Amino acid sequence: MEKKLHEAMNEQIKNELYSAYLYLSMAAWCEEKNFPGIAHWLKVQAKEEVSHAMKFFDFMVDVGAKIQLLAIEKPPSDFSSVTDIFEKTLEHEKKVTSLINNLVDLAKKANDNPATLMLQWFVNEQVEEEKNALHILETLKMIKDQGPALVMLDRELAKREG
Ligand code: FEO
Repeated sequence: MEKKLHEAMNEQIKNELYSAYLYLSMAAWCEEKNFPGIAHWLKVQAKEEVSHAMKFFDFMVDVGAKIQLLAIEKPPSDFSSVTDIFEKTLEHEKKVTSLINNLVDLAKKANDNPATLMLQWFVNEQVEEEKNALHILETLKMIKDQGPALVMLDRELAKREG
């Protein structure tokens, strides 16, 4: 695998695991503040992020690219509200989208067709990831700080499968 693409892919394993860590940290905050449904949604999200890291891991194994696991930084643990959590979620997913786009650019420049094809899955996934975060954030903006509506949202997000 071309050097820059190889390095960026190793980094992306870490970035996806950091995403899992971030959502798990948000879930811990929600558990503490008694939003078990939102915590559940975030825990499912954390598991998805681990599966994203594994997609990169498995792809690198398949093409014989050496895997180097990097240190995962500490995520924030203090949040001001549920809205703050979903603002940060959307912001984070936008950042991940730009990292994926950068990987696509590197794969194309390297004429690496298998990597380009594999990354298409992530291009589509990021559309979903941003859409989900934006949808919840817009609901939260409508709710503002109304307790009963927030309890309803908590119950709704408790239904996420995974
Ligand atoms: Fe792995 Fe949330 O993107």
